[in-house]
Amino acid sequence: MQSNELDNRRKALAVNIGKNSIAILSSANRNYRSRDVENPFRQESDFLYMTGISEPNLINVIYTKNNRVHTVLFRDNTSTQEKIWEGSRLTNKEIKKKYGFSEIYNYEQYHEKIESLLKGKDRVFMEFNINPKLDTFVNKNFLKLGRTKKKNIIPLSQVTQKLRLIKSNYEINQIKKAAEVSIEAHMNAMKKATPGIYEYELDAEIKYIFNKNNMHFAYMSIVGSGKNACILHYIKNNDKLKNNELVLIDAAAENEGYASDITRTFPANGKFTKEQALIYDIVLNAQEQVIKNVKPGTNWKEIHAITVKEISLGLIKLKLLPNDLNKVIENKLYQEFFMHKTGHWLGLDVHDVGEYENVTFVPGMVITVEPGIYINSSNKNVPKKWRGIGIRIEDDVLVTKKGNQVLTKKLPKKKDEIELLCNQKT
Ligand code: GLY
Ligand code: MN
Ligand code: MN
Repeated sequence: MQSNELDNRRKALAVNIGKNSIAILSSANRNYRSRDVENPFRQESDFLYMTGISEPNLINVIYTKNNRVHTVLFRDNTSTQEKIWEGSRLTNKEIKKKYGFSEIYNYEQYHEKIESLLKGKDRVFMEFNINPKLDTFVNKNFLKLGRTKKKNIIPLSQVTQKLRLIKSNYEINQIKKAAEVSIEAHMNAMKKATPGIYEYELDAEIKYIFNKNNMHFAYMSIVGSGKNACILHYIKNNDKLKNNELVLIDAAAENEGYASDITRTFPANGKFTKEQALIYDIVLNAQEQVIKNVKPGTNWKEIHAITVKEISLGLIKLKLLPNDLNKVIENKLYQEFFMHKTGHWLGLDVHDVGEYENVTFVPGMVITVEPGIYINSSNKNVPKKWRGIGIRIEDDVLVTKKGNQVLTKKLPKKKDEIELLCNQKT
């Protein structure tokens, strides 16, 4: 990370919390898959944003004194037991140099230091339920100074979600790197797909590319073939790919904490059927129309209205919805086939923090654009030939001064390009 990246974030936080305020952040805890088997450690996103450190058992305090931003870390050195089982971590000196803290104390010293720092402060900015012992400690010691929970203790997320909404060049680069690896993973899966193999084999092809690039998955991969593509968060991935069925893959890598998020839908046998092709082009057209309109000055409501209109028009044309666009939109009839949002913020969290109402797009925001059409296999309202088709196309889009940049555009999405890739067997 560039050295001024953390400085800028800390300064911005200090300005936003104001004078006589203090921000207290706790790291994530170790997290177990079962009994004593640990999941890979994932830092709490706000903590990662403010400190850059991926370690458990840390507390970070940020406040301003004499117009200088102070940032204090509470942390224990590696214990002898940890050294034996897990190896050494960075020393405090190395941490201080790398991440630029004003002071580092032993973890247990937070009691005495935070108690004294709370004196004279009007407001504490903090997220609760990450570190229950710290919660109790801060509540007790701040309320004893005559402050109230309602007025004087404020969710830190109110500030961090505003800061995290606009990405720095460093952050954009991390998302771009995650996207590049995800693109390679999707291409690999398309080339490996063929009727008769299992969804989990494609999941493995995807994870292979992530691991090979030292990245983790940003979320559990969705590999849905046939009717499974209509299950929005299908993660079982244990069905067999069949001839003449589609495969929907929603999978992406996380790099340095930053997520990408990509979906492509392709034919298992490398050739779209007539019905699949017709639905595919409605989704693609909706996605392209939306992307054209992602630019400074627009907002989620406007782009969602475009998705709804384009999907409705397409489905009306195929007689899958009644021939009355106003009625289809007013009565939300399209929701039978398109039931989720157009997209979401993207960043340290795949569904990143940030308001959706009353926010106008400005340069530096990163969003996903992911329209879809899902025709449930048991939907008796539609002729049989359409049933079980599920298609979503999802790209990651950066809002720029001039409009936008599609960070995932190197991954083909036109039908003929997709077919070409699927037929490049390796
Ligand atoms: N991968 C989850 C989503 O697209 O929102
Ligand atoms: Mn998404
Ligand atoms: Mn997705």
